[in-house]
Amino acid sequence: KEPIFILAIESSCDDTSAAVLCNKKKLSNVVATQKIHEEYGGVVPELASRAHQQNIVPVVHQALSKANIDKKQLSAIAFTRGPGLMGSLLVGTSFAKSLAIGLNIPLIEVNHMQAHILAHFIEEESMTAPTFPFLALTISGGHTQIVLVRDYFDMEILGETLDDAVGEAFDKSAKILGLPYPGGPLVDKYAQLGNPKTFQFTKPRVDGLNFSFSGLKTGILYFIQKEVKKNPDFVAENINDICASIQYTIIQILMDKLKKAVKDTGVKRIAIGGGVSANSGIRKALKEAEHLHGWITFIPKFEYCTDNAAMIGIVGYLKYKEAHFTKQDVTAKARYVI
Ligand code: KG4
Ligand code: ZN
Repeated sequence: KEPIFILAIESSCDDTSAAVLCNKKKLSNVVATQKIHEEYGGVVPELASRAHQQNIVPVVHQALSKANIDKKQLSAIAFTRGPGLMGSLLVGTSFAKSLAIGLNIPLIEVNHMQAHILAHFIEEESMTAPTFPFLALTISGGHTQIVLVRDYFDMEILGETLDDAVGEAFDKSAKILGLPYPGGPLVDKYAQLGNPKTFQFTKPRVDGLNFSFSGLKTGILYFIQKEVKKNPDFVAENINDICASIQYTIIQILMDKLKKAVKDTGVKRIAIGGGVSANSGIRKALKEAEHLHGWITFIPKFEYCTDNAAMIGIVGYLKYKEAHFTKQDVTAKARYVI
């Protein structure tokens, strides 16, 4: 019976998040980002699970109080089963199970990658949901995938990264330039002031719709080392042009594969998600493609691009409608294909 209230929990990586949805609408979406990893230049799994354990109860309390509902009103608990870091997933999974038993309501497992895609179906005034079929490009620090989405739960991965994710390509390039972690937003910031055609980096040759970013990172490292030998101030003097050139190369890699995916499938609706969708260059390239190639692009609110529990909640709602519930003996799954 409507309305359906879903409490959703996300703990796959380094953000502890809880959200409450009323049908397709978000009532609250609380995210506790773990600062601890900054000093290590990347996510430390052991520290991430400990921080989840510390944060999860207050984050859930906050989500419920912001939504202004009592836990007795909840229809079901949705949680991220995977993919992600095992120690992180275990915290959310165990917590969701216990709460569902305690409240005597159904438990719903959610695939994190499906959630990034289905985030487009959260009802918000500023967002239009894509119609099926569409292509989803999921780009973040942990993932890079092109997925053909025929229906809510009928998805096919057309391509994915064979090594680093796009966000890692940004972050590792930034690290080479001496920028703090996560460097993606900084590369974007400097890139906007530079000339993208200044330096050329070799694009990887990868068959089909798969990606590879580790070669690009090595290419950038060797280039910088060579230039710094000639001029120790090379990076500082050229930071804008270097960032613009790196960003341009990464965007070209993404756009080339998207063009191929559109050609292969005939589908021109493109929905993007993941933290890298914040990148100004990729947003611009997608808008240009609307004019150049007649694509229709969908970019969710930034809140729903980065890891968040509201996207877990929308999947929870869609599964609830189909009475697609999960048994209490479910286990977290670090590798979990769509
Ligand atoms: O989705 P997200 O918050 O977390 C996961 O990785 O799941 O994505 C974070 C990634 C980081 O690699 C960060 O550097 C990158 O997204 N990122 C950006 C920008 N904003 C965030 N990369 C390029 N340009 C940006 N503006
Ligand atoms: Zn994610």
